[in-house]
Amino acid sequence: MATKPREQWGSRYGFLIAAIGSAIGLGNIWRFPAEAYRNGGGAFVLPYLIALVSAGLPLLILEYTIGRRYRKSAPAAYRAMAKPAQFIGWWQVAICFVIATYYAVILAWAVRFIGFSFGEKWGDDPDGFLFDTFLQRADTPGSFGGFVPGVFWPLLVIWVITLVILGLGVRRGIETANKIFVPMLVVFFLILVVRALTLDGAVEGLNAFFTPDWDALTDGDVWVAAYGQIFFSLSVGFGIMITYASYLRSRSDLSGSAMVAGLSNSSFELLAGIGVFSTLGFMAQASGLRIEELVSDGVGLAFVAFPTIISQMPAGAFFGFLFFTSLVISGLTSLISIVQVIIAAVEDRTGWGRRRTVAIVGGATALASLLVYPREGGLYFLDIADRFINRYGIALAGLVVLITVGWILRRLKQQQEEADATSAIHLGRWWRFCLGVITPIVLAVFLVDSVRQELNENYEGYSDGFVLAAGWGVAGAALLFGILVSLIPWRHEPEPPPGSVADVEKNERSGS
Ligand code: ALA
Repeated sequence: MATKPREQWGSRYGFLIAAIGSAIGLGNIWRFPAEAYRNGGGAFVLPYLIALVSAGLPLLILEYTIGRRYRKSAPAAYRAMAKPAQFIGWWQVAICFVIATYYAVILAWAVRFIGFSFGEKWGDDPDGFLFDTFLQRADTPGSFGGFVPGVFWPLLVIWVITLVILGLGVRRGIETANKIFVPMLVVFFLILVVRALTLDGAVEGLNAFFTPDWDALTDGDVWVAAYGQIFFSLSVGFGIMITYASYLRSRSDLSGSAMVAGLSNSSFELLAGIGVFSTLGFMAQASGLRIEELVSDGVGLAFVAFPTIISQMPAGAFFGFLFFTSLVISGLTSLISIVQVIIAAVEDRTGWGRRRTVAIVGGATALASLLVYPREGGLYFLDIADRFINRYGIALAGLVVLITVGWILRRLKQQQEEADATSAIHLGRWWRFCLGVITPIVLAVFLVDSVRQELNENYEGYSDGFVLAAGWGVAGAALLFGILVSLIPWRHEPEPPPGSVADVEKNERSGS
């Protein structure tokens, strides 16, 4: 039976807009301000920018190059590079599974908050409303508790929309959705940030956001948080960009596209930080509290800070609508890309058609998400999964990719030549130096330090059992899944598209 030819993006713009749509997401609007808040505001911004330049952008270019070279999903691409490297791809698939299950939940909160904005349902206590009334957060972490229907139903809707778009395919589904949602998001968000900046007290918030704290630079924890955030936000380290680039044409520009996507993402992220911290400044001034005392839990920051200004401004409901709709559409385009990693991997591995794969694999991911998170104890599971999968999933996988590709297989030069052959921006030696030397060393040192701190003191004071099961357990299971699945022999071999570099290599190998 002839295999169907691999799908392709309709145009360079189509790819770029999808890559930007994937990158800009909850990581920018929900996670970045929360990480900055937790890590002392200004203390976070400098490590973040260093991580962007030294690791984020170079890794983004590497993932684009791997994806376009092999034109396969992450596991198949790593396998084509060297059979034992396949486990990295499956590990990334498992990481995507974990992220997708909780990521969709935050989208569900945002869907509800669009409605809450009309009538300002949070009254004068957005913090209490979010955690107690809406999420019905359990007092202690560790048990699932009962279902919370107010989160369950919107979550189901989010999953249906996501799977329908994925079922339509790369060009008709993913590309079209991004072409609609990304421009809409930019317009909505610019209006919001401009409004936040004109609030009383905004300057105080901006000072907290931009004043560097030089002492914090010696704290490994802040650095690992910054690297983790950059990876999450740029969608690198978990196979997304390999997957998206696998639908590129062979002569497409790589480095230029990566720069555009990476810089758009970080600009958006800093804008979100400016918006949220301006709001915090406003809240601090109104309440007489210090910025670091305003919110009881960083995880809900965006859902507390924005309702506060919505209540205070004329036409607040309209701004609430803009903000929470921005969250939903930015998150949706990212969620699609996260689940696509799993879908593409299973398609390549089994030879199944797209619809069947989306129904089975996407359905299973949705089911896991619906069973675990929309519950009274769900927020704690979400918080700890996000923390551990980010550090000991994404960031660690990023380190393993660099050691494997750079040090063991020694492919960086080859990848550089390949990117340079079709890109407007040529990569200098700095690129190999960042990926081969600086980033692996920095990541390794900080990850070791982070583990040490983790062992000294449980994250958020959670109990040993909870940290072990829901933190280390989840991150460890993702790695174990990667290793075990990579040991199962393949019966179906995805053919590289004729004329692709991987195809030429394959013919050379079989001829020798
Ligand atoms: N890159 C995506 C985000 O920032 C996952 O949300």
